Amino acid sequence: MKDKETLTKSSLSGKRLVLIGGTSGFGLATAKAAAVEGADLIVVSSRQSSVDKALNVLPEGTEGYAVDISDEQQVEDLFKKIGEFDHLIFSAGETLQIGNLTDVNIDDSRKFFNVRYWGALMAAKYGSPYIRKGGSIILTNGIVGIRPWKGWSVAASIGGAVESLTKGLAIDLAPIRVNAVCAGMVKTDLWNNIPEVDREAMYNEVGSKLLTGRVGEAEDIAEAYLFLMKGNYTTGQVIVVDGGNVLV
Ligand SMILES: NC(=O)c1ccc[n+]([C@@H]2O[C@H](COP(=O)([O-])OP(=O)(O)OC[C@H]3O[C@@H](n4cnc5c(N)ncnc54)[C@H](OP(=O)(O)O)[C@@H]3O)[C@@H](O)[C@H]2O)c1
Repeated sequence: MKDKETLTKSSLSGKRLVLIGGTSGFGLATAKAAAVEGADLIVVSSRQSSVDKALNVLPEGTEGYAVDISDEQQVEDLFKKIGEFDHLIFSAGETLQIGNLTDVNIDDSRKFFNVRYWGALMAAKYGSPYIRKGGSIILTNGIVGIRPWKGWSVAASIGGAVESLTKGLAIDLAPIRVNAVCAGMVKTDLWNNIPEVDREAMYNEVGSKLLTGRVGEAEDIAEAYLFLMKGNYTTGQVIVVDGGNVLV
């Protein structure tokens, strides 16, 4: 039973969050939502320009670091510098090149694992020793791992790897809770390599087939990260937030 103070205070109040990929899309939306609930934020991404842009829209006192999360030494140094914190949110990722298997470039495809899979594993390895009691790690995945489309074999493989990593880490790092958010199509900068007119057409076409009748906004996904940070009895889980995409 919660006491009166706990009932009026968010469990994120005063918690220190490290958001890798927190300068854009899912990470930035989660940072904003957590700030409203009184969390202290540290946002990390590879480009200083993205970090500066994010710091402009996040509360005063937010820390920001430019770090390439696929570089092991940089990851180790980052967590040494940050020190103790409560929740690690990992949503770093770049645009994937997709295409027919016959056209897949193997060396390029190997590199796609560097940020999403190896980056996530390294963040967990070097970040977990600094996570305080009651803290958690939340990774990020896409539904292509559950339901691949034609031409998406490489992306689907990363999805499978991240899902298994989530479960493995939940066991390795217990009692630190480890979960993942698995998203369907969401309007973020990830899709900015597609010209605006084509991008809007894609959102409308995909959205019209979804059970929700629209594709997601980053704020829809942020709700899932917040739930997983607060859900003290949830671990080893992958929460799908996709407008019903895997059902249609
Ligand atoms: N949006 C969707 O529809 C969707 C659907 C399913 C899954 N996902 C996955 O969810 C994750 C987040 O997507 P999003 O839509 O939030 O993407 P986003 O808006 O493009 O944000 C990606 C973030 O990752 C950072 N990043 C990229 N490479 C990095 C590196 N080497 N080191 C550190 N940070 C790095 C980016 O900042 P810098 O450029 O400064 O590095 C940015 O802050 C991605 O893995 C994506 O594949 C997205």
